[in-house]
Amino acid sequence: MSLVPGTVRPRRLRSTPALRRLVSEVRLHPSELILPMFVKEGLSEPLPLGGMPGVAQHTLDSLLEAAREAVAAGVGGLMLFGIPEHKDEIGSQADDPEGILNRALSLLARELGDDTVIMADLCLDEFTSHGHCGVLDQAGGVDNDATLDRYASMALAQARAGAEVLGLSGMMDGQVAYCREALDAAGFTDTVIMGYTAKYASAFYGPFREAVDSELKGDRKTYQQDPANGREALRELGLDLAEGADIVMVKPGLPYLDVLAEVAQESIVPVWTYQVSGEYAMIEFAAAAGAIDREKAIDESLIAFKRAGSDAILTYWATEVAQRLQTEAAGHLSNSNAVGGR
Ligand code: PBG
Repeated sequence: MSLVPGTVRPRRLRSTPALRRLVSEVRLHPSELILPMFVKEGLSEPLPLGGMPGVAQHTLDSLLEAAREAVAAGVGGLMLFGIPEHKDEIGSQADDPEGILNRALSLLARELGDDTVIMADLCLDEFTSHGHCGVLDQAGGVDNDATLDRYASMALAQARAGAEVLGLSGMMDGQVAYCREALDAAGFTDTVIMGYTAKYASAFYGPFREAVDSELKGDRKTYQQDPANGREALRELGLDLAEGADIVMVKPGLPYLDVLAEVAQESIVPVWTYQVSGEYAMIEFAAAAGAIDREKAIDESLIAFKRAGSDAILTYWATEVAQRLQTEAAGHLSNSNAVGGR
């Protein structure tokens, strides 16, 4: 038996690698990949992270070296996280110009600022002795409005250090407007604010807590979003846009593709995704166990973000994938394994 003449055959467009490449709806480019990096005060050697094979806490020297490698691979930007030796109740090291994050920002801005975009995580959790993203009130809760003063001070310190994009990841109400006002008043009118617009209270941040030596006991459910709520992401989007966010973010990535797709549809500014530590770990550990093909799984996860509407992606694989994309672009053609080509 055969199909009737004129049968619609979607397989036709899948028949050769070149044809598949031609009809790909989305593809990856190194400039859309952003590398998150950790720098830790007091280290003499980079310290590999058990929960994130291939990722390390850096010294200033090794940070610069890894940053140069990423920039050579053509990544779009670098997002820095700093881990101070001394943490306290208010996270004093966060806005100290001599704090490790601000020193690292100055270094990278000076050495690489013309070739890439230097970004800073703007949040207190790496700096506080209690591990929360803000300062605490008498009752031990996170004090939203008192935290905003700390964020504004951090924003100025990071802008002065040379950060071009500030990633406001703390999920305090009003954080974008508050930091925007502080930056503008100090003359930093061109400093870009990227709001972590829809950031969920997620178990997928697990390995990151090791990466920043987090002191957190408990959870962040009074400020990060409930995983059950999709509509609320649009409310947060409306607020961040009204407050002047230049870029918005959805985080984590794969478990929230529906949220990403909705935000991407509604947003009038660029939309980014953060493929978080737990997503990274799942693929690395599953691949190490022989359960999945590592490179193919990485590529497929990144392509999923593009398909859902993400403009750029923060991923711990940024350098590796950018390097591979460069090699493929150079070697080019008839490569059925080309990223995004399937
Ligand atoms: C907060 C922050 C977190 C991550 C990025 N910024 C942790 C949290 O909210 O608990 C997680 C990133 C990752 O898991 O890769 N400053």
